[in-house]
Amino acid sequence: MDPAEQPTKVTNSEQSKFDGPIPYRTRDGSLTLQCLSPAVFYHSVHGAVQESTHVFIRAGLEQARSTPIGILEVGLGTGLNLLLTWIRCLEGKCTVDYTALEPFPLETGLLNALGYCEELGWPGLHKTYMQMMTGSSDTWHEAEGGFRCRRFAQPVQSFTGSGSFDLIYFDPFGPRTHPEMWSKEVFDRMYDALVCGGSLVTYCAQGDVRRTMINVGFVVERLEGPPGKREMLRASKPTAS
Ligand SMILES: C[S@@+](CC[C@H](N)C(=O)[O-])C[C@H]1O[C@@H](n2cnc3c(N)ncnc32)[C@H](O)[C@@H]1O
Repeated sequence: MDPAEQPTKVTNSEQSKFDGPIPYRTRDGSLTLQCLSPAVFYHSVHGAVQESTHVFIRAGLEQARSTPIGILEVGLGTGLNLLLTWIRCLEGKCTVDYTALEPFPLETGLLNALGYCEELGWPGLHKTYMQMMTGSSDTWHEAEGGFRCRRFAQPVQSFTGSGSFDLIYFDPFGPRTHPEMWSKEVFDRMYDALVCGGSLVTYCAQGDVRRTMINVGFVVERLEGPPGKREMLRASKPTAS
């Protein structure tokens, strides 16, 4: 059987067979990935699906008004944000053009092990999800529901997308271990990539990050965070700039 068709559930005690990042079960029951060095998680340990839904879908996607909504994701990782967004399209709530940056794509076995399509109650999406995540990149992959996506292996530090996006899912590893992802240079690029009136949402609410965003020209809101986190940030590019 095509390995892309067979999701496998992993418990925390079965993780040692994986090299590199390993599956880790978070408190809402969904899996994330844990890297040991540096010690980072791909999502909040309080709940991977809960965090992605709160930060990127509710505070981001559900506030956007364009048709289609042009989304840039910084750090595609497991594709959980992509999948949650595609499901909103399949539910008839929006249409989306999704561009994702990921210089370190994950292996098929690891994506299968996460079993996200089954976890989210859409097992029939698994094959197409795997094609989106591992198939040819750079070109648009058209899917059902008014959703299309493309992946670039390019790091955010060299990405240019002048005025092309309505919404940015800013989801790199945190500033403690990856300060270069949260620099003024990166936020300058993000500001340029957005249309006027567009927004960037992120799980991070650190004061230094917020001040850097303001310095770049963003109008920044502190919003209630997902479970386990007091706040998150939404940074908007003013309509007349
Ligand atoms: C917190 S994880 C992403 C979580 C992801 N959105 C998900 O739902 O699984 C951060 C991601 O950023 C990626 N990354 C690392 N360096 C990057 C860079 N310079 N530009 C863009 N992405 C980068 C990592 O490989 C990793 O997949």
